[in-house]
Amino acid sequence: MANQLLAGKRGIITGALDENSIAWKVAQKCKEQGATFTLTNAPVAMRMGAINKLAEECGTKIFPADATVVEDLEKLYKDSVDYLGGKIDFVLHSIGMSPNVRKGKPYTDLNYDWYNKTLDISAGSFHKLIQSAHKLDLVNEGGSFVGLTYIASQRIFPDYGDMADAKSMLESIARGWGYHYGKSHKVRVNTISQSPTKTTAGSGVGGFDAFYTYADQMSPLGNASADACADYCVFMFSDLSRMITMQNLYHDGGFSNMGIAPQIVEKFIAE
Ligand SMILES: NC(=O)c1ccc[n+]([C@@H]2O[C@H](COP(=O)([O-])OP(=O)(O)OC[C@H]3O[C@@H](n4cnc5c(N)ncnc54)[C@H](O)[C@@H]3O)[C@@H](O)[C@H]2O)c1
Repeated sequence: MANQLLAGKRGIITGALDENSIAWKVAQKCKEQGATFTLTNAPVAMRMGAINKLAEECGTKIFPADATVVEDLEKLYKDSVDYLGGKIDFVLHSIGMSPNVRKGKPYTDLNYDWYNKTLDISAGSFHKLIQSAHKLDLVNEGGSFVGLTYIASQRIFPDYGDMADAKSMLESIARGWGYHYGKSHKVRVNTISQSPTKTTAGSGVGGFDAFYTYADQMSPLGNASADACADYCVFMFSDLSRMITMQNLYHDGGFSNMGIAPQIVEKFIAE
């Protein structure tokens, strides 16, 4: 693998909760590739403490911020720029949570207060994260924002519930801000549509193990791991991807272009 792809770049990485988190792997790979960055998570997640271990390993600091609160995000940018010694080059949005999914409310019986929370935490926060940077002008020209999404935004996966609506919104925000920030500062905004991955957020979805195995068998390359996703994020933060913006990029071992896989059909023939 190429080395030091992110030398001299400064970033902010959200969403590392424990060592299964996709953001955790992204932080480790960014460090390996020569970037400096700060870490952030919701104050409530900080209490779990695991993120301190990551900060130590990466030789950096954590600035808590609730991603739904603009004042928190503005402070996060200012503190990160002060701590890192210059404007930011890349930002990872790795945030998702649905109270409806968590509490077993199906798409046909949503609690609308929780629905608003799902949309705000999982998608609105991406808009807020980008708008705060734009207003403060704290991201360098050529900078790169990446949000993590899932194919349920575009195809129906019934158990994914209202998170599907949030992911559609997230992908739309990448196009909206990709246009505006691209025109004003040549900053790029993309989403990466990742395979099912065994993390706290992932495993919260009903029937996760079954659809993890199903996706694995449907994909010619198998499911993409969190580690491979982190490599893709590094590429998206690097100058190698400098002309890629406003895209939803599938990182799924080929799943999104499959119709049916013989391996799965054979199971029905056997029955
Ligand atoms: N795991 C999967 O199968 C999978 C597949 C595709 C996309 N994704 C997406 O990847 C991203 C990261 O999820 P993960 O799977 O690593 O799980 P995770 O549970 O490790 O990460 C989710 C993070 O969101 C943070 N968060 C929740 N509310 C917040 C708030 N108000 N402010 C700031 N942070 C908040 C949590 O503390 C946690 O760190 C999510 O957007 C998720 O939807 C996951």
